[in-house]
Amino acid sequence: MERDAVEKEILRLRREIEQHNHAYYVLNTPTISDYEWDKLLRRLQLLEAEFPDLISPDSPTQRIAVEPAEGFRRVPHPAPILSLANAYTDEEFLAWLERIRKLDDRVNAADFVVEPKFDGLTVVLHYHNGLFQLGTTRGDGETGEDITANLRTVRSLPLRIPLGEGSIEPPARLVVRGEALIFLEDFSALNQRLEEAGERTYVNPRNTASGALRQLDPALTASRPIRLICYDIIASDGEVPSHQLEVIDFLGQLGFPIPEGVVHAKDPEQVLDAYQSWVARRDSLPYEVDGVVIKINDILLSSDLGVVGKDPRGAIAYKFPAQVVTTRLNDIGLNVGRTGVITPYAILEAVEVGGVTVRQATLHNFDFIKEKDIRVGDRVLLKRAGDVIPYVIGPVLEARTGDEPVYRLPKRCPSCSEALEFSETEVALYCVNSTCPTQLIRNLEHFASRSAMDIEGMGIKIAVQLVESGLVNDIADIFNLELEDLLSLEGFAEKRAQNLLDAIARSRTQSLTRLVIGLGIRNVGETVAADLARHIGSLEGLSHASQADFEGIEGIGPIVAQTIHDWFQNPVNMRVLTKLKEAGISPEMAAPEESSMVLEGLTFVLTGSLPSMSRAEAKAQIQNAGGRVVASVSGKTSYLVAGESPGSKLQKALDLEVPVLSEEDLLRLLENRPTP
Ligand code: IVH
Repeated sequence: MERDAVEKEILRLRREIEQHNHAYYVLNTPTISDYEWDKLLRRLQLLEAEFPDLISPDSPTQRIAVEPAEGFRRVPHPAPILSLANAYTDEEFLAWLERIRKLDDRVNAADFVVEPKFDGLTVVLHYHNGLFQLGTTRGDGETGEDITANLRTVRSLPLRIPLGEGSIEPPARLVVRGEALIFLEDFSALNQRLEEAGERTYVNPRNTASGALRQLDPALTASRPIRLICYDIIASDGEVPSHQLEVIDFLGQLGFPIPEGVVHAKDPEQVLDAYQSWVARRDSLPYEVDGVVIKINDILLSSDLGVVGKDPRGAIAYKFPAQVVTTRLNDIGLNVGRTGVITPYAILEAVEVGGVTVRQATLHNFDFIKEKDIRVGDRVLLKRAGDVIPYVIGPVLEARTGDEPVYRLPKRCPSCSEALEFSETEVALYCVNSTCPTQLIRNLEHFASRSAMDIEGMGIKIAVQLVESGLVNDIADIFNLELEDLLSLEGFAEKRAQNLLDAIARSRTQSLTRLVIGLGIRNVGETVAADLARHIGSLEGLSHASQADFEGIEGIGPIVAQTIHDWFQNPVNMRVLTKLKEAGISPEMAAPEESSMVLEGLTFVLTGSLPSMSRAEAKAQIQNAGGRVVASVSGKTSYLVAGESPGSKLQKALDLEVPVLSEEDLLRLLENRPTP
């Protein structure tokens, strides 16, 4: 290629890669697969290698940077947090081996460790005297973002090491590298829960984990099922193992979650066998894995080999074949959820991804279609990972003919043809017709589900029959069903009908919490339902409570309070409640017990260093006693706990007349003794 043409191509590639980077790292919505991104970067690397004078410092090959999210403190890493070079074929793996063999004879006799390459978010965890003190993201590899508060909510992260008896002593200072991720099963359950609550679902596990850890509210992180897997030691001031295989074992003994199925390969053939067996297992793994990482077992040899750019020579990622394909979007279908929320899905030309034929895929929500400008008739990129429902990544713009019409939002419900409405508080489209048959079917299914009234045998099929036959027009109707009614339905003989009636009868004594869950109020899941039951005590009470009453309950914000209030004031729902009462369904809550959570309802801010415990410990103790710890002082703060060199928070607390406690006062409060 001529120099001019190469220069043009280089500029084009840089722009394209930067756009994809922005979408991936900043917006958390990838526009292409990692595989294709790697291909672009490699092409750019090749061209730049041919014309090195065209390399500029802002080329993505020079600095693959991650934009810092605003609001987190930047923390320098104790050692560079390196990345990995990729191989896609056996030849590329062997070429890597050949290169490092030439650099160091010892490679000839080297053995290897083959680990899964987790598709998550890298985290760096600092332990001091066995206590978790600081956790950061990888950031640009030199400095990361301090996400300690969020990481503390990750249950598999040991807050203290060693965990468990009989384990080894850790060095006084230990910095560990791991990957934060969401397991596929947890991801599906999370999305199902969100969908049922009429909330927005997530696109994929990786971005959900990354988003949840890189936002400013630890409570939100805590509500996401994030897990951790650790595989490396970044720094320590004590004795640590000299081989990677032992490092993993060592981390395991300290109580860290470690990778499963790690293979010790004695030679390159065994490495390739291990790769193949990982490829074969790929779809049955509980998490997303996009390849394996092959590491020289001997850590000294590995580090002697040095680093190229940000990639250590002593390890390489051997990626799996892509599970991303393209196919035609034949149409956009619409689902009606229990709460009336309308969600779009893709109707596709059948295509095989990872051994499975896919005809439908999720499109998440209408904003997603708009943002990506997805049009019927487009070729679209489709990804499938494990058991997660396949999803559309976006359109292939180059394949457009120009005849594809811009997608227009539906105006009418596909089930009942009533006009659709936008909700004020959420960016979702709703069918607000309370007699919409599809909604009623889903409502009924939910009402009978295991977490609600737990009516055995009443699944979606029977819900459809009951609604379509006209026997049931709202959830209360099921309590008036009689044997003859059920016998008129297809597939119901005496025994089956009686079993269902018995199951319905048994559900009459379910708790108020279960009944409230069953009502299917938007944003009211198990926790909020339990709070409502505990604080208000009866359906009658809930019907008469004001929005302010709901807002007064800890954990219920103004938006949820309004949704609940609106639900109970809706005339159709009021009729259902009356019918339930007439049918004898009116559970009440026993009087609430005196709480053992001595700090419940109180909000704390910590500042300065405390004499006998770290701030993290103080925080944990407050949280364990039901209190909340927030970052800054406001009029709503109950107490400021101040140690030595307290900083500006103390002045603010004094200005706002927020009471200031010493560590001793705090300990007294925790023991429920009066503060002087
Ligand atoms: S080792 C110097 N091991 O993959 C060692 N990385 O593409 C570099 N990753 O940024 C990392 N699983 O976040 C290593 N078993 C594993 C891994 C792993 C996932 C991630 C890591 C890294 C990325 C490189």
